[in-house]
Amino acid sequence: MGLEKVRFGLIGLGNIGTTHYRYFPKLKGAELTAVCDVDEARFEGIDDTIERFKNYQEMYDSGLVDAVIIGTPHVFHPEMAIAAFEAGLHVILEKPVAITGREARAINAAYKDSNVIFAAMFQMRTNPVFHKIKELLQDGTLGGVRRVSWIITDWFRTQSYYDSGGWRGNWTGEGGGVLMNQCPHNLDLFQWLFGLPKRLTSLVYLGKWHDITVEDDVSVLMELEGGATASFITTTADTPGTNRLEIAAENGKLVLENGRLIFYRMPDSVQTILETSTEGFYAAKPEKVELSVETRSHGHMYITQNVVDAIKGKADLLSPGTEGLKSVQLANAVLLAGLKNKSVTLPVCEAEFDALLEELREKERKNAPEKAFDWDKYLKDLQA
Ligand SMILES: NC(=O)c1ccc[n+]([C@@H]2O[C@H](COP(=O)([O-])OP(=O)(O)OC[C@H]3O[C@@H](n4cnc5c(N)ncnc54)[C@H](O)[C@@H]3O)[C@@H](O)[C@H]2O)c1
Repeated sequence: MGLEKVRFGLIGLGNIGTTHYRYFPKLKGAELTAVCDVDEARFEGIDDTIERFKNYQEMYDSGLVDAVIIGTPHVFHPEMAIAAFEAGLHVILEKPVAITGREARAINAAYKDSNVIFAAMFQMRTNPVFHKIKELLQDGTLGGVRRVSWIITDWFRTQSYYDSGGWRGNWTGEGGGVLMNQCPHNLDLFQWLFGLPKRLTSLVYLGKWHDITVEDDVSVLMELEGGATASFITTTADTPGTNRLEIAAENGKLVLENGRLIFYRMPDSVQTILETSTEGFYAAKPEKVELSVETRSHGHMYITQNVVDAIKGKADLLSPGTEGLKSVQLANAVLLAGLKNKSVTLPVCEAEFDALLEELREKERKNAPEKAFDWDKYLKDLQA
């Protein structure tokens, strides 16, 4: 594609759709030519020059768009992404790319032979601090990883948040809780930095603090390739919360917390000290190195601009869509381990996870029908 602008269509004009809508005028080399939402009320405030569609397939077939941003509830991500590839459109897909590994693989399979760009909206990947951490892991500064501990309890959500939309906080609508809605970003960064774990076990609590049927309190223990262990703790119920990533490695400890990245560099390899020091109660005196690096995510617009540049052949993708599969597989494995009370090896058995999800949806319909969500009725009511 040459100098002409990439024409975008935006599907879903809710919370995130509104964020995407607002930054469009600031993008270079792109324009918003169409929007789509099943709910007509969402078109209020949309510029008159932008075409409106209630049906995404009609927007795909209109010839008005070269690319789409899919910002609808997760349930619709697979069908909308797959149809976009079939229509030859570039795709930016909101997180999570899908609810199950099987669906995410189906998206990737549909993408495989299409000649388009596919990105996932993992805007936290635009935060320079995570690129710095990856560099320190790869260039040998940290040495081999011994232990990773990530506490991410700053995703506090109130009951009114869950009550704000019928599809939230239940298995039929959202397909999961904190792992499916808030944590996909952290799970993506985790796998991007450390790879998918070999095996894991977890404690998963459903509606422990909120009146919801999905998980709102999760603690995971993992074994990584190479033998390091990792813990990942999250909830939507603690405030003030914590976001602390600590990497204990061969050459010292790296800590990211409160916007600061600090490396506690040891004078020698930790294992060498452990094996050779004559001090039984060795008191570490590491050199404290504060690394000056920006710790703010550059956000959604940055990912979309990167996709525009990639379409024009001027940039590599920061967040390839096919990688969205991995955080879905990780979330599925954590749920399976916690709810079946067992250790799970990755990649997770898809049939087993799909059966678990169906069981949870069935139980929800039976025991908490007021929480279950009916997408067919929702769409019919909006279109009536
Ligand atoms: N990247 C991020 O930081 C981020 C932040 C928030 C939400 N999200 C993701 O964005 C997605 C949407 O979340 P939200 O909070 O904006 O939800 P929302 O409920 O506020 O908005 C969803 C919109 O989609 C529309 N919609 C529903 N079904 C549709 C269909 N079949 N066709 C067309 N339009 C349809 C609804 O009418 C609504 O306007 C979710 O997958 C969520 O995880 C990502």
